[in-house]
Amino acid sequence: MLQDVKFYSPEDLAKFSELGITPAGIDAWLSSPVHDRLVRTFDSYPPRSLLSNTARAFLYHCIVCKRPRRVLEIGTYRAGTTEVLARAMNEIDCGELYTIDPYGDGIIQPILEAWPENLRSRVRFQPTDSMIFLSYAFSDKLTFDMIFIDGNHDYEFALFDLLASSLVVSRSGVFVADNTDQVGPHYAVKKFLADHPEWRPLRREISSSKDPFHAGGFDVAGTTFRVLLAPDKFSLGPRPISFGARRCQAIPVSSVQLDLESSPSGTLYAKVYRRAFPKDVSDHSHPEEIKVTGSLHVPRGSCGKTTVPFPHSLVCKSPADYWHVSELILAFVPDDGGQNLLLRDEPSLA
Ligand SMILES: C[S@@+](CC[C@H](N)C(=O)[O-])C[C@H]1O[C@@H](n2cnc3c(N)ncnc32)[C@H](O)[C@@H]1O
Repeated sequence: MLQDVKFYSPEDLAKFSELGITPAGIDAWLSSPVHDRLVRTFDSYPPRSLLSNTARAFLYHCIVCKRPRRVLEIGTYRAGTTEVLARAMNEIDCGELYTIDPYGDGIIQPILEAWPENLRSRVRFQPTDSMIFLSYAFSDKLTFDMIFIDGNHDYEFALFDLLASSLVVSRSGVFVADNTDQVGPHYAVKKFLADHPEWRPLRREISSSKDPFHAGGFDVAGTTFRVLLAPDKFSLGPRPISFGARRCQAIPVSSVQLDLESSPSGTLYAKVYRRAFPKDVSDHSHPEEIKVTGSLHVPRGSCGKTTVPFPHSLVCKSPADYWHVSELILAFVPDDGGQNLLLRDEPSLA
């Protein structure tokens, strides 16, 4: 197994962290000696990674630049790329790596057990699929600064992975989607970007070629990656957005608290569902569901803390030891059909 190696000098670390994951930062890295060293090292190592040497090196670089607290890899395969990601985390001594694969039970654990402790301790492998994992992550508020999307490459599944991952990515986080030379991931990225204009591709718009099998350009030469950068704010428009069904305490809710970035004029709509489910399977009571809706007109230029009150407070009658769940849904309809409303922070219930 590869010995522990540090590829980046303190000067490299300072320079590339400053440049970040930007076209200029990636171009500077591509022409640097540190890139050449990484590409040489990962030329045929780890043998079980399905990625090219440049792709391995790029993921390594992203981790070093971003210093993520938490990274998710969707699609572990044989944990080859997992090792590259874990090594990058060791280089900066930071972060934990979740990796998931529904077909990896009994295969991945022995691979990880053969790793040195300092590498293995970074990794949390779960033999589950992205739907189960991401729904738990969302309800448990587990967020990721970087998500490597490399699971099922059929369009519908790749699009699901992008959409559901966008619920658990941190603000200013990054997605790296692999195999965008294939039609599934390619069209999934295209659809995701069309529906989420607040997200930015690292480098270029998708090719406008009329050939349906033409995959368009990649964001990093030598890879089949599209790199998508998450917005640093929450954006609200006329399509209602759910902030997820999350477990909560059985306490009343009477308003939503928001922190607005300078806003266009329009109306904010808020809806909350509270649900309570018996924990005991022999308890046949029907789950309880109650809801309330509120709205608030926001004048142009409003910013800072804002409250959307509900006409009455909402509290479930079910016992406190049931599973209590709360779901908040928001929408913003601008007066003149104009821009979305931006939130500086995730909204909260009070
Ligand atoms: C292209 S391979 C991953 C390669 C690996 N990331 C690497 O770089 O070596 C795709 C993996 O995704 C897994 N997979 C398939 N469906 C999945 C799903 N719904 N959620 C998570 N992983 C999935 C497959 O079992 C397979 O091992």
